[in-house]
Amino acid sequence: MKEFHYFCSTRNQNLIFNTFMKPLFEELKRKAACCRQRIVLPESTEPRTLTAADRILADGVAHIILIGDREQIMARAAELGLSHIDRATVVNPHDHDVVEKYGTLFYELRKSKGITPEEARLKAQDPLYLGCLIIKNGDADGQVAGAQNTTGDVLRAAFQVVKTAPGVSVVSGAYIMMLPDGVPYGDDGIMVFADCAVVPDPTAEQLAQIAVSTHHTARDLAGLEPRIAMLSFSTKGSASHARVDKVVEATRLAREMNPSLAIDGEMQADAALVPTVAATKAPGSTIAGKANVLVFPNLEVGNIAYKLVQRLGGAMAIGPVLQGLAAPVNDLSRGCDTDDVYNTIVLTCNQAIGAQHK
Ligand code: ACO
Repeated sequence: MKEFHYFCSTRNQNLIFNTFMKPLFEELKRKAACCRQRIVLPESTEPRTLTAADRILADGVAHIILIGDREQIMARAAELGLSHIDRATVVNPHDHDVVEKYGTLFYELRKSKGITPEEARLKAQDPLYLGCLIIKNGDADGQVAGAQNTTGDVLRAAFQVVKTAPGVSVVSGAYIMMLPDGVPYGDDGIMVFADCAVVPDPTAEQLAQIAVSTHHTARDLAGLEPRIAMLSFSTKGSASHARVDKVVEATRLAREMNPSLAIDGEMQADAALVPTVAATKAPGSTIAGKANVLVFPNLEVGNIAYKLVQRLGGAMAIGPVLQGLAAPVNDLSRGCDTDDVYNTIVLTCNQAIGAQHK
């Protein structure tokens, strides 16, 4: 996850960690350990990843599938002083049977795109793709990567192989935002923001889909009863513009996609958050003034907003949590630390459990 590494960088964030993160993650860890998911780690000799895997195995949080050469992995584990890695399943991407089985699957998935069987066999030996193919074949439940690979590479493999969940048209990225003590927004200072990571310029339909996916993330991972505000520079018709119309249409479509959503829009950020402003600008709205999920109209706004809340507002940002895939694949920052990898595996397990119960 991109921003875990800001943990504990200031006294304030230490406080946030102890107040919000610890209880939230203890609960997520407990849930993960209850029905252990099979998580693929394609970057199997990467030290932070391997150390996190060792802790996950020691804590009984998940089954771990490492992609790579067993001898190399065990040698690296010995160098790092790790003693639980032998409990992981190791899949060698160059093993003949592995290449045949998953190469054939990749060919079937991509032949309409003009790929040859030989190209498919080669792609199946790429650990990022192989991990996704293992998931696609039902042999694993989720994947965590990105300590070595770029976001684009991690996402592309997931988009091409795992693909979107049934009925979902677009993958997006949410952040769980932990606001500093005393800030009176969200539920006990916890909010969810989306899309902050993937879709540069969503259509109304994609924006509606992002709202629906964020509802699930907020409920399953952040433990919220989601109240979603569809943000704009206009509240309830105060301005007229095609960009406002898009948010109005997205709100209508989201309600159509999931009539049980607690959602309202279009509204400005102050109307979404502040009860007195809501009373003036959006009287009668059940969301305005008490939103705990903010859906932004495009990636520019979402990405800038979460970083401003994090940097100027002193919030802790956990994510991006990729949402909308048929099975969870999450992307780490190349600047991540072992805790980031561990926590991302815990989140991924919970997404997998949530997906199985939908
Ligand atoms: N949801 C689902 N599928 C998608 C999505 C999506 N959001 N985007 C692309 N795809 C699919 C396409 O349909 C296509 O499928 P197909 O090959 O089966 O037809 C496949 O993925 C590849 O599509 P491309 O358009 O070729 O995707 P590309 O590889 O160019 O880009 C990428 C994908 C890199 C993720 C792009 O969406 C992107 O750059 N997004 C912005 C990422 C970013 O920079 N975020 C901000 C920084 S992150 C941060 O700050 C935390």
